[in-house]
Amino acid sequence: MADDQAPVGLSRGLTNYGDRDFARYLRLANARSMGFGSGLLKKPVIGIASTYSEFNNCHRGVPDLVDAVKRGVLASGGLPLEFPTISLGEPYLNPTALFFRNLMSMDTEEMIRGQPMDGVVLIGGCDKTVPAQLMGALSAGLPTIQVVTGPQSTNQYRGERLGACTDCRRYWAKYRAGEIDDARIEDVEGNLVVTAGTCAVMGTASTMASLSEALGMLLPGTAAIPAVHADRLRAAEASGAAILDLVKAGITVSDIITEESIENALRVLLAISGSTNAIIHLTAIAGRAGIKVDLNRLNELSDTTPVLVDLKPTGAFYMEDLHAAGGIGAVMRELKPLLHLDCMTSSGQTLRERLETQDDFVDRKVVRSFDEPLQPQGGLVALFGSLAPRGAILKRAAADPTLFEKEGRAVVFSSLEDLADRVDDPDLDVTEDDFMVLQNAGPLSPSGMPEAGYLPIPKKLAAKGLKDMVRISDARMSGTAYGTIVLHVSPDAASGGPLAFVKNGDRIRISVKERRIELLVDEAEMAERRKTMPVTPFEAKRGYARLYRNEVLLADEGCDFDSLRAEPGRT
Ligand code: FES
Ligand code: MG
Repeated sequence: MADDQAPVGLSRGLTNYGDRDFARYLRLANARSMGFGSGLLKKPVIGIASTYSEFNNCHRGVPDLVDAVKRGVLASGGLPLEFPTISLGEPYLNPTALFFRNLMSMDTEEMIRGQPMDGVVLIGGCDKTVPAQLMGALSAGLPTIQVVTGPQSTNQYRGERLGACTDCRRYWAKYRAGEIDDARIEDVEGNLVVTAGTCAVMGTASTMASLSEALGMLLPGTAAIPAVHADRLRAAEASGAAILDLVKAGITVSDIITEESIENALRVLLAISGSTNAIIHLTAIAGRAGIKVDLNRLNELSDTTPVLVDLKPTGAFYMEDLHAAGGIGAVMRELKPLLHLDCMTSSGQTLRERLETQDDFVDRKVVRSFDEPLQPQGGLVALFGSLAPRGAILKRAAADPTLFEKEGRAVVFSSLEDLADRVDDPDLDVTEDDFMVLQNAGPLSPSGMPEAGYLPIPKKLAAKGLKDMVRISDARMSGTAYGTIVLHVSPDAASGGPLAFVKNGDRIRISVKERRIELLVDEAEMAERRKTMPVTPFEAKRGYARLYRNEVLLADEGCDFDSLRAEPGRT
């Protein structure tokens, strides 16, 4: 029978009850029931992690992508075997999709590890699925390529272009301000998402797709191909062929995701003015390789990385325009002097080889040159200080610079419920110069760190035309949102961070120039508050919620589970 020294394909990982040949015989007998010829069963096996789900509209195109990957694998001499994993559709999950990201990463890791495969193609797309797959695959350690579902195409609606979900917010703001009526908002609702694929702007899904390409995990040039474009299927087919080359060459995901490629991804994140969520996800991905993403280093990179890409929510264009303009390759060519070019990619080429060989077309309306950037510095910055000893994040590219150096009075909401109950109260004591503060929406809170950081402007101020004010929380923000919004305050309120002890009327100072965020309350008063104000992290008695409660790390550690991080001696 086959050689036990180096089992491949379906002979991998056979249970050994004393007669391994019997175990193999039994496995092959079962595999043959699928109708495969015996020759095919001796080929290298490529697992295809499918995330199709009717609870995930962004993944509507996954079955077609699976078929295309299979074609590529078969044509290159491998046996493709599709398997399902958890799928996370951002709008459908309670309390949040982030709460389940680590569960999906565990499912992905263990199914790659537990089933007999030589390499794996991951098909992800919606916000949390891309990082969850990368985290799991990195821990599993096989040759790996990712394929993303691709962005939605925009719609033509009454003379304007609509795409999820910056335009969703724009229309909702109009509705809240009384500019449009119920009938119109219902009509808009049916016109925002009109194709398969992920949100059409540089939201979290598009950001993570871009970073997966920057890391080298997507085939070059494939992050921004629209979901419904034939090139998306061609990319999937090519990925099916490329994974066999990686298997033959013995190139694993650990050869691709390294300290250097993580730094390249951070550069690209800053240059595309990507989603704040990506910092949490990249930190978690890096942690699976034992690499720390330091927010001080993020600030250094931010100071030296220009914003080059003009996409919504901060700019003018949509993801399909980035594809037509040259894609992430065009961005990386501009950043070339700043990048680590020896990094390996899933194409089997180094990044240097990739950037030298690819088509160099670029549309400067969408991707600016390094010398004439949209903004000279990166879109994201970390703030530190007495309110956020372990850091907080501000997407300065999406914020109002007149609010960057400012002291204000805190108007505090103690929870999401409190916010919902009071934000539109006509008697709420709030002015446009105040700082809205939301507590108990961080990773340790019962809400599991939702995208609630985009606090609505109180109705009475919105009605006067106010579009932005300083908002501070331990929550996250959707990648499609914008405003002067300080997020991920760490430690979060529910784990006893200073944010928990902010009271109405306290003074807070932010300085983007100095990277500071200070709660102007003296230490004696803070000590008193720590004694008298209760902190209540959420309780979970059983199941996954208990695992989450016991294991989840803070925002600056990527909200991964402690025991899933790579550490010496852990396998
Ligand atoms: Fe899936 Fe926006 S809801 S990417
Ligand atoms: Mg999103």
